[in-house]
Amino acid sequence: MTKIGDRTNYCTDVTENDIGKTVTVKGWAAKRRDFGGLIFVDLRDRTGILQVVFDASKIKDFALAEKVRSEYVLAITGKLRRRSDETINANLKTGTLEVLASDLEILATADTPPFAIDDADGVNEMTRLKYRYLDLRTEKMTEILRLRSEMMYVARDYFHRNGFWEVETPYLGKSTPEGARDYLVPSRIKNGAFYALPQSPQLYKQLLMLAGTDRYFQIARCFRDEDLRANRQPEFTQIDMEMSFVTQQQVMSTAYGLVREIFDKCGGVKLPETVRQMPYDEAMRRFGSDKPDTRFGLEITDISDLVKDCGFQVFERAVGMKGGSVRLINAKGFVDEDNLILSRRDIDALGEWVKTYKAKGLAWISVRKNGELLSSITKFMSKETVDAILKRADAKPGDILLFCADKDEVVFKTLGALRLHLAEIGDLIDKSKFDVLWIVDFPMFEWSDEEKRYMAMHHPFTMPYEADLKYLESDPARVRAAAYDLVINGEESGGGSLRIHDRELQKRIFNALGFTDAQIEERFGFFVNAFNYGAPPHGGLAFGFDRLVMMLAGTDNIKDVIAFPKIQNASDMMTQAPAAVDKKQTEELGLKIVEKI
Ligand code: AMO
Ligand code: AMP
Repeated sequence: MTKIGDRTNYCTDVTENDIGKTVTVKGWAAKRRDFGGLIFVDLRDRTGILQVVFDASKIKDFALAEKVRSEYVLAITGKLRRRSDETINANLKTGTLEVLASDLEILATADTPPFAIDDADGVNEMTRLKYRYLDLRTEKMTEILRLRSEMMYVARDYFHRNGFWEVETPYLGKSTPEGARDYLVPSRIKNGAFYALPQSPQLYKQLLMLAGTDRYFQIARCFRDEDLRANRQPEFTQIDMEMSFVTQQQVMSTAYGLVREIFDKCGGVKLPETVRQMPYDEAMRRFGSDKPDTRFGLEITDISDLVKDCGFQVFERAVGMKGGSVRLINAKGFVDEDNLILSRRDIDALGEWVKTYKAKGLAWISVRKNGELLSSITKFMSKETVDAILKRADAKPGDILLFCADKDEVVFKTLGALRLHLAEIGDLIDKSKFDVLWIVDFPMFEWSDEEKRYMAMHHPFTMPYEADLKYLESDPARVRAAAYDLVINGEESGGGSLRIHDRELQKRIFNALGFTDAQIEERFGFFVNAFNYGAPPHGGLAFGFDRLVMMLAGTDNIKDVIAFPKIQNASDMMTQAPAAVDKKQTEELGLKIVEKI
């Protein structure tokens, strides 16, 4: 009889050098083929598959082997041997090997699983999430868990080598100013009061700099109650860091060094030694996004000056608006008659699609093969204007120009999204490439139409550029900040900033944001007061760790890289959380459910 703890090998760490040895392996029965007196079972553990043979003439209890079914948990002892030539499987790491079992123990039986583990690709995601522990047995998910663990290890190693200390900060804390909705935890001791789960460790890590920790990092869970997307989860993981007595470039190069090391060691991806930096304004102007995907062209062209008196009302009105413009994307080669990527119907559909970005329409000019123009708008403009537009856009036969006329904010959002959409349908992105850049010179503030006030674009502790401070009260939109985002393949992988360490300046920023002294005291009093006792210059950054894992795992679904993720409505398919609790529990917390929505 084998015992539970006497495994000699994982399924795939045996090699041809081990042939002839007696091994004990343990795992799940993945596949079973029964040839009468001979049964083959693929044994699966987290490393992969090893074939096991039960031969009626070689095993003590063949009747037991006949009982083995899918997903039974087995302990097997036997001699490792070479497979006969006709049974060699070149797709398996252990494809030339098998174990001839002399001993079998069934450690657990199993019901028929709701889906076949080794053929789970087409299985509905809701089913996979409901039985996540089964889904995690698949090769794909097992590999992602391994990758994630290794990336975490490499990160910790990098920080330790660079003099960072890992410090844990509270989950039960006070609301932080990251800008999403908080998850709240009611207090039992102090009925009516709530902890907020941290949206990030921002305040604590700055206080650690005040404490003299000098270099901090944490692999920290963050909680944000916001609308979920393919790259967002309500609880996600940051690689969070903060440094004292450093310049912006020092923080950026330390942070980038980490990503470079992780990509190299865990993904075999060699990122460039240094990364180019692009000012926020340029990113918006050229790509309509502060996280541009620069693996393809389709850049945006401004034609406001050409159309300000062109006769086409829609364009003239947009240019006349404060902060309005007319811009276009030249979809090169998208309407070549022989090779049509965009049909008339597609173009009309795009005209509807852009309305989700608040655009009012999508004017277009298409250049036919013979040079003839087809358009929804040329009839409104002079030939000179049209020629000038074509020239500026470098329009050639086969191209189609797509226009958006509106406030810049709408124009950038629309054309930025359109650009990505066109790249997708035109298959313009080389997915094997990694494209990295820093976006810098962010505006300190952005106007919120909803709140009718300026909001901090990053957060209110971000250091503004000294040269721009003269606009702080007169024209806040002009103030730029020492903030930076690392963009990889059009995804914001991380962001950070230098922080304000001067209490007077901090107060001016809060005032520019419209906070009264009383509000500052109530929300951030403990934090602001700390700056009265000697604050070092400091700055930092946080990476979205899940997003980094997504990149190396080659998935665009964040749920794939989190062991037990939440679905769209922030619930957990497996545990059914969130769920009702006992009345006794809510009573202790002093809570009464007034109305269920
Ligand atoms: P920020 O809010 O930009 O900065 O967050 C840092 C990074 O975290 C990732 N991220 C997310 N990942 C998954 N799901 C989410 N819901 C989610 N939200 C954000 C992004 C983002 O770049 N305290 C500052 C950092 C600093 O200034 O040091 C902060 O939290 O990849
Ligand atoms: P109309 O004169 O409204 O029929 O519009 C003529 C063309 O201009 C149509 O193709 C519309 O989609 C397009 N259009 C209308 N408003 C805008 C706008 N704000 N920006 C870009 N195109 C527009």
